[in-house]
Amino acid sequence: MFAAFHTFLLSWALMFVILGVVLKPAVEVIMGPVVSRIVFWMTYIALIGAKIYLKRKTGMCESRVRVIGKTTIITGADSGIGKETALAMAYRGSKIIMACRDVEKANKARDEIIRRTENKKVEVHHLDLASLASIRKFANNIIDTEIKVDILINNAGATGLGNKRTADNLHIGMQVNHFGPFLLTCLLAGKMKKSAPSRIIMVSSYLHHCAKFDIDNLNCEKKLNESQVYFCSKLANIMIANELAKKLKGTGVTVNCVHPGLVYTRTWRYLPSKLQPALKYILTMFFKTEFEAAQTSIFAAIDKDLEDVTGKFFCDCKEIKPSHKALNEDLAKKVWEKSAVLVGLKPEEIDF
Ligand SMILES: NC(=O)c1ccc[n+]([C@@H]2O[C@H](COP(=O)([O-])OP(=O)(O)OC[C@H]3O[C@@H](n4cnc5c(N)ncnc54)[C@H](OP(=O)(O)O)[C@@H]3O)[C@@H](O)[C@H]2O)c1
Repeated sequence: MFAAFHTFLLSWALMFVILGVVLKPAVEVIMGPVVSRIVFWMTYIALIGAKIYLKRKTGMCESRVRVIGKTTIITGADSGIGKETALAMAYRGSKIIMACRDVEKANKARDEIIRRTENKKVEVHHLDLASLASIRKFANNIIDTEIKVDILINNAGATGLGNKRTADNLHIGMQVNHFGPFLLTCLLAGKMKKSAPSRIIMVSSYLHHCAKFDIDNLNCEKKLNESQVYFCSKLANIMIANELAKKLKGTGVTVNCVHPGLVYTRTWRYLPSKLQPALKYILTMFFKTEFEAAQTSIFAAIDKDLEDVTGKFFCDCKEIKPSHKALNEDLAKKVWEKSAVLVGLKPEEIDF
């Protein structure tokens, strides 16, 4: 319903943009100058109306909770939504472990976060989700060196990676967005259980609704287009989170998913370059800033009312319903089992 209204509003605004700006000379010739002027002004009213509506819908994390003494791991914390999340959590006093692929870039982001928040407990650790060895090395180091892990935010994600296979013989897009975060979460869940109360957050996407998901093609042996790889991986995020929430029920570890909202970041790079200027314009004009997009992750990580809430999906700091498929428990179980086999999860690695 909400998505349908969004779509209606945008189509309406877009129609007026096309009529009022792009086709203005044609409208003037066919309908005359008066109608043309009306359409032109309607365009501006439509644009301003759409913008006001969408800004009012943007949920902000109102919680004043401080997280001093807590340790938060955020993957992909060197740019986009992840960096804003790290900044907000550092402001609130948490120790931050930025789990990033590009250490040099992450160091620059860390220096900025320390300068802006005056919180010196911000560290960069190398993590490449496209390598199972890197994930295991990162997780083992955390298990050995950190006293506790209170919050894990699986934020990193990527698109436009093509149809390559990684050294682990996994589809690269599925590995970075689904298999990697799945393995990382499984490896750290035991530590988080010992650190309870603790929270695991998966940054998924509302676009999981568009997934044409086939459990027999989880590793994309049959070629999928870029968009479907992304949609399916984001659906898998929710199923894995729900399955883990069930497994961890009663342990003090909660597992929830978020849709951050739409914001122009490199997430959109998989769309054709010709579309990029228009996409950038529309997303920047109508949708969220990175700061706004980070709000639901922050909310899921700290809000007091969510202490015992697990297996839910949030957007704009409110619970929303994921797709029917995302709630299919049998399918989620199969995704879990198949993923465990594909990442070679050993019984001794599961400590929860
Ligand atoms: N932007 C949106 O509209 C939107 C909407 C719904 C959901 N999301 C989700 O929000 C999350 C954050 O995305 P964003 O929009 O902030 O995009 P972004 O600016 O591209 O950030 C993605 C982060 O993930 C990291 N990453 C990519 N591949 C990695 C790998 N192999 N190993 C470790 N880290 C890796 C990136 O690191 P590098 O800098 O090294 O590439 C970057 O830090 C993603 O999960 C995305 O799917 C975004």
